[in-house]
Amino acid sequence: MDNCKDVKNSYGKLLGYEVENNIVNIEFEEEKVYIKIVNSYIINFFVPSFRKERNSKAVENLKDKNCDFEVEFINGGIQISTEQLQLKVYDCFKVDIYDKEGTRLCADYRGDSKPFNRRYGDYMLAEAEGHAINNQEEYKLYISKNMEEEMYFYGLGEKTGHLNKKGYHYVNWNTDNAKPHGETFDRLYKSIPFLIGLSKGNAFGIFFDNHFETYFDMGRDNSEYYYFAAADGNLDYYFIYGPSVKKVVEGYTIITGNMPLPALWTLGYQQCRWSYDNETRLMEIANSLREKGIPCDTLYLDIDYMDGYRVFTWNKERFENPEAMIKTLNNMGFKVVTIIDPGVKVDKGYKIYDEGLENGYFATDNQGIVYRNEVWPGDSVYPDFLSPKVRKWWGENQKIMIDAGVSGIWNDMNEPASFNGPLPDDVMFNNDGILVTHKEVHNIYGHMMAKGTYEGLKKATGKRPFIVTRACYAGTQKYSTAWTGDNQSTWEHLRMSIPMLMNLGLSGMAFCGTDVGGFGHDCSAELLSRWVQVGTFTPLFRNHSAMGTRDQEPWAFDEITEEINRKYIKLRYKLLPYLYDMMWRCSKNGEPIIRPLLFNYQNDKKTYEINDEFLCGENILVAPVVEQGAKARMLYLPEGNSWIDYWTKEEYEGGQYIIKETPVDVCPIYVKGGSIIPTGEDQNYIGEKKTNKLNIEVYLSKENTETRYHHYTDDGESFRYQAGEFNHYKIKITNLDEKVEIKFKVIDKGYKEKYENVEFIIYNLRDKDLSVNGEVVETINEKAVISNPNK
Ligand code: GLC
Repeated sequence: MDNCKDVKNSYGKLLGYEVENNIVNIEFEEEKVYIKIVNSYIINFFVPSFRKERNSKAVENLKDKNCDFEVEFINGGIQISTEQLQLKVYDCFKVDIYDKEGTRLCADYRGDSKPFNRRYGDYMLAEAEGHAINNQEEYKLYISKNMEEEMYFYGLGEKTGHLNKKGYHYVNWNTDNAKPHGETFDRLYKSIPFLIGLSKGNAFGIFFDNHFETYFDMGRDNSEYYYFAAADGNLDYYFIYGPSVKKVVEGYTIITGNMPLPALWTLGYQQCRWSYDNETRLMEIANSLREKGIPCDTLYLDIDYMDGYRVFTWNKERFENPEAMIKTLNNMGFKVVTIIDPGVKVDKGYKIYDEGLENGYFATDNQGIVYRNEVWPGDSVYPDFLSPKVRKWWGENQKIMIDAGVSGIWNDMNEPASFNGPLPDDVMFNNDGILVTHKEVHNIYGHMMAKGTYEGLKKATGKRPFIVTRACYAGTQKYSTAWTGDNQSTWEHLRMSIPMLMNLGLSGMAFCGTDVGGFGHDCSAELLSRWVQVGTFTPLFRNHSAMGTRDQEPWAFDEITEEINRKYIKLRYKLLPYLYDMMWRCSKNGEPIIRPLLFNYQNDKKTYEINDEFLCGENILVAPVVEQGAKARMLYLPEGNSWIDYWTKEEYEGGQYIIKETPVDVCPIYVKGGSIIPTGEDQNYIGEKKTNKLNIEVYLSKENTETRYHHYTDDGESFRYQAGEFNHYKIKITNLDEKVEIKFKVIDKGYKEKYENVEFIIYNLRDKDLSVNGEVVETINEKAVISNPNK
């Protein structure tokens, strides 16, 4: 095998190695390579060919675990062995990775690069996709891997198309493109260069930590190999071994950080519009929601609340007294979130512009002159979020909004967007004292803005910050939630949102959502009904629509649609304790909230390419209707356990396709047999009703099962949980032939508000005896209540 055939990254012959702590330094003729054993299943490959220092903005607190590994010479190269992996490194820095059984997981491709022929030019394709075609030759870094047998690809954050990315290519270059996002769009607002490969049941991840433009081709060019490439920068990538997808995602969040526990109110329903542009209209919306009994926690103000789109200002003609208005809304149980864009209006005498100019806080051209482009306020300048000083300044200004009563911040247009042509490559930013180009930092601009916003909000409030961002890079989950930008009110976009959100979840951005009902174009009654059914289960649940489109609030169509909205939004509120538990788990191990079926059923290959079903946590399977007029839909129930129809409580064996009738008010929902689901009371907003009662729904299956569940509570807004102020309960259900045993145990009880009653609602008890913590209890209508469970 000729390892050096591919001339692009020519490292030359392997000369030798030395081991320094957990790093194996390998000397090649042309280049030095550092292989870091992060732990027994995460390996980092680093070649500082662009800049000596690591300059990751995704990886901040990665702690290496000291683990045993061995290095030895083998025929033609060296071998590094950890407890779980074997790496073989050869001349020209060709790397092959095997598991302990010797199964090859990931191997560098040695053949020629053979892109397919595009006969007679590329004019039509470029037209269709709205951008030029990428050419491998444009990329300075290029790593190509063998296509293994039966490969599937996932991850890559927010991308168009299907769940499985095999046969497609994508570009990471944060892009605001207002045209309807079709399957052929190869780039959107976010760049998360993290790919999951799955071959013959073995999953692994590749995190290519490079924020220049990057490119991933999953066998579109040629089915013999897949590759990733970057316009420039250091070669810095991580291999993360599974073999489960779950472990890969956990490994990725170990590297890039976990989503912090969100404030509870952020899980409620959110109502938005471009724009509720004056106080009267906003109050009308707030009152309608309460009068109509449609639960809602959050109202948004889009750009028109500002004075001439000047950030950190209010238009006092439209909102005469924002503080008083927000106070009234807060008293009604609403939180208010305001939008902000990075573009600062060029306007002498405007505080933010003057301060920024005076202190050199804005990005400049290559001559050091402040760079201008156009955004909503017209002529605008761009804060340099790469600089810690600027982030601090921006963060401190958030206090202006917080003092007015605002509870969360919506960061938009932070790709950064520009109306007057793209920012040139050589617009300059100051990365902690090092001057860097826009070409290098474009993809992390929104990420750094989110970081500054997070730190500012945390300081100003002491509470868990809520930020929604459009642009992201790997690791943005530490600071912000994300929405998928300007979708359209089309069935195609509803369909596509499901794999998009599932892949975002697999890429660390678990707290994500789409504009429910669609942003551009007019929504229809049926489309809104179906979209709200999906939104009920997505972490961020926000109805939003564009200026000029028809009204899209839950009541904007007809009574039936309003009723469907109410029914599902109420279901969302009912499921909040379950969702909060999922958030808690995710904050610990990166497990996404909504996830593809394969995440929990990797042994069942039929789950590998399901685009129109998802799991919400591991217990709830949702198979939404995404076709107009569908009166029924086929769905797959994964094998390994039974599934109980949420509506009828009928039980189905797993491993089969079934057909479910779907009148417009029915979204097919199936609960895993044996599940424990904590649920909450009916309320108009979170915290409306103070309750010390917990409901626990138990879905028993015919088969004998034993299930465990962890339930978590705290004050839902502060960081006091970090000092132990939380309660943690463990629930175990054993379903035997004659009886069902429930064990309810308090593991941690640091939070003062405790449950006084726990009510179990047991579905499919089938006249069995029931015991709770060893005592037989009476059940009435399959309900059993235990008092004082904190003993
Ligand atoms: C962008 C955002 C959209 C917002 C609009 C006006 O298009 O993506 O959500 O409503 O700007 O601020």
